Amino acid sequence: MNKEYSCKVLKREMLTQDTAYLTIDCPEIAQKAIPGQFVNVSCSRFLKRPFGIASTDKENGTFNIGIKIVGGGSGELASIPEGTVINVLGPLGNGFDLSSDSYILVSGGTGVFPINFAYETLRASGKDVTMVQGFRDKSQICLTSDDYIVTTDSGDYGIKGTCIAGLDTIDLKKDQIVCCVGPVPMMKAVGSWAEAKRLKCYISMEQRMACGIGICLVCVCKKKAEQEGVPFEHVRCCKDGPVFEYGEVIL
Ligand SMILES: Cc1cc2nc3c(=O)[nH]c(=O)nc-3n(C[C@H](O)[C@H](O)[C@H](O)COP(=O)(O)OP(=O)(O)OC[C@H]3O[C@@H](n4cnc5c(N)ncnc54)[C@H](O)[C@@H]3O)c2cc1C
Ligand code: FES
Repeated sequence: MNKEYSCKVLKREMLTQDTAYLTIDCPEIAQKAIPGQFVNVSCSRFLKRPFGIASTDKENGTFNIGIKIVGGGSGELASIPEGTVINVLGPLGNGFDLSSDSYILVSGGTGVFPINFAYETLRASGKDVTMVQGFRDKSQICLTSDDYIVTTDSGDYGIKGTCIAGLDTIDLKKDQIVCCVGPVPMMKAVGSWAEAKRLKCYISMEQRMACGIGICLVCVCKKKAEQEGVPFEHVRCCKDGPVFEYGEVIL
């Protein structure tokens, strides 16, 4: 059962010039959320806006989202005053498979947020995790650590190139699972890199969404059909995803 909560924004900080990080008070979402899930947040626009859960603090009953300003809704939420009460629907979607012992996590753009939650959860349960972050340039870097492999397209920080240049530096282990969130071309590249290495790979689809709960069909994408002779079927990214195994959805 999806629930909508009225939640206070406890803290807002700017991580980069155009990206805010909100700490939101909601013990229920902090308790229930799993990495890869998202929340749908109200703003003055007609539709709610979806954001990946970036972190949770069960003890204090809070969770975080990161918001990159790309338009009116994100601009409004990224500049929201601390203390404002907002309506939040969630946690929504399926989340990552975190049952393996060893992971490679890869993020690009705003994928850094859901991947951060996966990293924190896996490390808290003592699992082996290698983190690769790909950014356009140094000015976009956020939620990073000295332990991470960082690449920039511009080469002004870390390894010059895409996240594939970072992935190529890793000593691979058997049965590692790759989880990747970022722009579609990046997820395609990471998915085929993983395929070539015979590693299972999950991606998360950041389709445009409306209801976020599987009713309106705004977020459908094509999935390879199981039935012979049928080229594809449709899946709802909000409800059946947003996480899919690479190769399951047609990118
Ligand atoms: C499951 C999911 C998780 C997401 N997680 C995050 C996150 O953690 N942090 C974050 O900053 N953003 C995230 N996004 C994207 C975010 O929802 C959109 O950027 C936001 O809804 C744009 O609203 P807006 O009113 O500012 O922009 P609009 O005025 O609606 O659009 C401005 C521009 O952004 C593009 N745009 C809008 N929605 C999307 C989208 N879903 N994907 C790609 N481009 C889009 C439009 O095509 C347009 O070019 C996520 C999206 C999904 C579906
Ligand atoms: S956003 Fe409405 S069905 Fe997915």
